[in-house]
Amino acid sequence: MRSLDDLAELQRVDQKGMLRSYLRWHEALLEGARAAERVELPDAVRTRVGTIRYGQPRAVLIVGMGGSAAGGELLRDLVWDSAPVPVLVWRDYHLPAFVGPETLVIAVSYSGNTEETLTAFSEALERKSMLIAITSGGALGELCDAIGLPVVRVPRGLKPRMALPYLFAPLPVLAERLGLVDGLGEQLKAAADLLRRMAGGLGPEVPTERNEAKKLARDLVGSIPVVYGFGFYRSVALRLKTQFNENSKVPSFYNWLPPMNHDEILGWENGSGLAEGFSIIFIRDAAEPPEIRRRIEITRDLVAHRVARVLELWARGETRLEKMLSALYVGELASLYLAIASGVDPYAMESIDAVKKRMAELGLAERARARVERLLVR
Ligand code: F6R
Repeated sequence: MRSLDDLAELQRVDQKGMLRSYLRWHEALLEGARAAERVELPDAVRTRVGTIRYGQPRAVLIVGMGGSAAGGELLRDLVWDSAPVPVLVWRDYHLPAFVGPETLVIAVSYSGNTEETLTAFSEALERKSMLIAITSGGALGELCDAIGLPVVRVPRGLKPRMALPYLFAPLPVLAERLGLVDGLGEQLKAAADLLRRMAGGLGPEVPTERNEAKKLARDLVGSIPVVYGFGFYRSVALRLKTQFNENSKVPSFYNWLPPMNHDEILGWENGSGLAEGFSIIFIRDAAEPPEIRRRIEITRDLVAHRVARVLELWARGETRLEKMLSALYVGELASLYLAIASGVDPYAMESIDAVKKRMAELGLAERARARVERLLVR
């Protein structure tokens, strides 16, 4: 394992400066929020199949893949018990049957060229759903401009996962602008301020003994992280699993309580030593419900002796948003340090690029684009 306190080594492995970029998430959150405040929301948009009318939605569907879906998952957990309509996330080519003119579909694609998202977008347009896009450009940006659909533009030149604060922050702002929830814009500013303060204690110059993210990474070296969330930390657990995959290039899995107590927990009974290759991370909250606290304690008791390590990731802050983002932030940085500790470039993403390149031979993005172009009123 490489030292996480050798700054020259850190810089050598993290060639593209991902750590530097993540340590500015507080600024990116505020920038993303401002971009959503600026965007003009139309009353109606004309297409060849009819007019899309922007009114009060009966459901919100956030459509996107990978890093571009993560912000939607966070929003769903943030508002599931306060929004008057369902807020759901969709990560596939084809839309569920309920999607229609009264559904607000927010299509999120950092590149704007993801074939699944473009296909779902074309279907939403055909069904005259209220559409809004969040993207840095690509085909999605171009098509929205040509049709006159609102687009929240985020800066180019990042890997999608690095752009999470730009892709996420517009969602609570839009939800508030559409009258679905109150007060999220203010909460976002407070959460950005918390991340700014946290960044001071999590950066490369802060030694491992005093750096929560480095410590978590150090404790994970050599094992497969399994992240367990609960309640509104379910999206945080999923996102962290994906960051251990994408940044640290290790297999990683997630689940949440109580469901894992009803099936997955039996897997840890395996006595052949298989489980020793895994570390469990429980996301914790000083105000977690007593029944969840008890479940975590019982689960830890039953599985701790089978796995490599049981670790805890404690959320900070007052509001739900602060809690979610603070736990996420430590874990995100840990995923970068885990890559660096293993001498792995956190920026690289060979297999995702390879799949996209080989899938492109089928021409699905072009087909979706052509379907949309047929609907343009010229
Ligand atoms: C890469 C990443 C991926 C992408 C996904 C969709 O950093 O996070 O999960 O987000 O492949 O691509 P976009 O975001 O361009 O629609």
